[in-house]
Amino acid sequence: MKKMLSVILAITMLMSSILLLSGCSGAGNVKKIGIVQILEHPSLNTIRESIIKELEANGYKDGQNIRIDYQNAQNELTNLKTISQKFVRNKYDLIIAIATPSAQTVKNETNEIPIIFSACTDPVGAGIVTSLEKPGGNVTGTSDAVSAEMIMELARKITPGIKTIGALYNLSEPNSVSVINDLKNYAGNNGLTVVEATVTSTADIQQAVNSLTGKSDAIFVPIDNTVASAMKVVAETATKAGIPVYVGADSMVKDGGLATYGINYEILGKETAKMAIEVLNGKNPGDIPVKLMTDMDIYINQDTASKLGINIPQDILSEATILN
Ligand code: TRP
Repeated sequence: MKKMLSVILAITMLMSSILLLSGCSGAGNVKKIGIVQILEHPSLNTIRESIIKELEANGYKDGQNIRIDYQNAQNELTNLKTISQKFVRNKYDLIIAIATPSAQTVKNETNEIPIIFSACTDPVGAGIVTSLEKPGGNVTGTSDAVSAEMIMELARKITPGIKTIGALYNLSEPNSVSVINDLKNYAGNNGLTVVEATVTSTADIQQAVNSLTGKSDAIFVPIDNTVASAMKVVAETATKAGIPVYVGADSMVKDGGLATYGINYEILGKETAKMAIEVLNGKNPGDIPVKLMTDMDIYINQDTASKLGINIPQDILSEATILN
């Protein structure tokens, strides 16, 4: 009897080590997912939370059948690089890169590990993919592209008479540059003038806003990570000076910007997670087209409107989401 037990024990041990070696055991099946986010701000947090929620809703639970390693680069490019290198060195199964700088950095570190980017406004312009329809390689993801034209049409309905628009953005963020190019086109076609104030870090922002309030009728902020992280300062300074700030994302309206025609970042997070799941199930990222968000909504900060003494037209208010 004793002998029998030890034989069974030996067989069981042998079998479990074979399973472990072949990667068929429970532990071997746990996929490692790295999530890298450029910095802490409301839109990006919303995206990340929504991704994790949607993964869970589809049966991918952190600590159970997947392991999520979330890292925030605190707006430092050197941190982005260190984080990306760690993900690659540890041979993660999938990397989710939130915002353009994260995606650019991760892409530079690996041609093999699948990368799903999230909320990259202009992934082609940023050199992350060569085509939206057929990204190719190990990369695909979601874009939060918005229309400068739609935002400007809204701006001119809310504050008619705008002639000069101050563009506030970080010149080294391709996600901003592409929207500002659209803004310049729109301005050119509509007899408006764009004056620019570019920043390289949040430290430049106060001065940049000051320079614009004196010479523009409205300020336009694209979906810029650097400006978004100091959006409260931008809104406060401009509003005090009586200048409306039109922005690219809902979180910037929440932080005091007057209005946007923007996308829903919770939905974008969900779409990002769906792509991640397709890839976890074996699909090649390069074969999945980049997903653009087609539903846009008007977001208004009513408190900012009152401070500026602006009455938002009723037809706009009735379809807008009020964010304060
Ligand atoms: N679209 C930005 C990028 O491409 C990231 C982003 C998403 C963002 N939501 C935002 C930036 C809100 C500023 C504010 O990098």
